[in-house]
Amino acid sequence: MKIVVIGGTGLIGSKVVKKLREQGHEAVAAAPNTGVNTVTGEGLAEVLQGASVVVDVSNSPDWEDAAVLKFFETSTRNLLSYEAAAKVGHHVALSVVGTDRLSESGYFRAKIAQEKLIKESSIPYTIVHATQFFEFLKGLADISMVGDKVHLPPVLFQPMAADDVATAVARIALGPPVNDIVETGGPERFRVDELVRRRLAAIKDSREVITDPNARYSGAKLREKTLVPGSDARLGVTRFETWLTQPAAQIPGAPPQPTGVAKEKERRNKAS
Ligand SMILES: NC(=O)c1ccc[n+]([C@@H]2O[C@H](COP(=O)([O-])OP(=O)(O)OC[C@H]3O[C@@H](n4cnc5c(N)ncnc54)[C@H](OP(=O)(O)O)[C@@H]3O)[C@@H](O)[C@H]2O)c1
Repeated sequence: MKIVVIGGTGLIGSKVVKKLREQGHEAVAAAPNTGVNTVTGEGLAEVLQGASVVVDVSNSPDWEDAAVLKFFETSTRNLLSYEAAAKVGHHVALSVVGTDRLSESGYFRAKIAQEKLIKESSIPYTIVHATQFFEFLKGLADISMVGDKVHLPPVLFQPMAADDVATAVARIALGPPVNDIVETGGPERFRVDELVRRRLAAIKDSREVITDPNARYSGAKLREKTLVPGSDARLGVTRFETWLTQPAAQIPGAPPQPTGVAKEKERRNKAS
């Protein structure tokens, strides 16, 4: 089966491509540096020829409110219209557990807009809601800076290894569309502030994490269970302490950067 992975060069995308190929499928990594740009439409008609499934694990290069909304709206509209022309039978998109509860955040308003376009389109779909990736814990610190300290609320979350996210996405891509949201999460629950503190200590990042009940996540106020998946969520297998011993966790510590998220992505890509 031909499966096009939009964002197939990214953290999750590259793992999804690898897992699908290992199972004997023709998985094509589509991204600007492979000649496919969902924002401009470049290369889309060509790459979708003969594709049965499209997996969208792309992300916006810019997380500023208007830019991220424009990215997900334009990209998703283009993708769905080229998929209809190519008669693609299943659109799989990766989003975040609790997205609908996070509309105070510009990033999550963009994900809500992406999901709305998918639900309203004629293409059968599955939206995968995953919890935060362990690989994103330092990025979470970077986007939660107040002055020189990290401010995070002591609410629950259930993060997971990127490899387990990719396993879930690949499995769903090979199954029938459910025309609904399915959730996946990690095997353990933590407090956000506590786990980010542990992650920073593990990479010898000296930033202090302040437990702040009023601190926001990407601009949104969190309740105790905003980030926690429901009881039907399929859980990944990798526990945090196990992940810490794996190569993916061996990213050297670095001082906070002004453009934290972009720099984090750069380091992460180099490390993987
Ligand atoms: N971070 C978390 O904890 C978390 C949790 C749950 C769900 N998610 C979701 O997971 C998804 C993937 O995240 P990730 O961390 O794997 O992303 P990532 O590593 O930043 O990768 C993003 C991918 O999108 C591609 N891309 C960017 N602009 C594009 C365009 N115009 N056309 C086609 N491809 C484009 C990138 O290609 P280039 O490298 O060539 O630019 C790259 O392959 C996101 O949608 C995010 O919302 C994240």
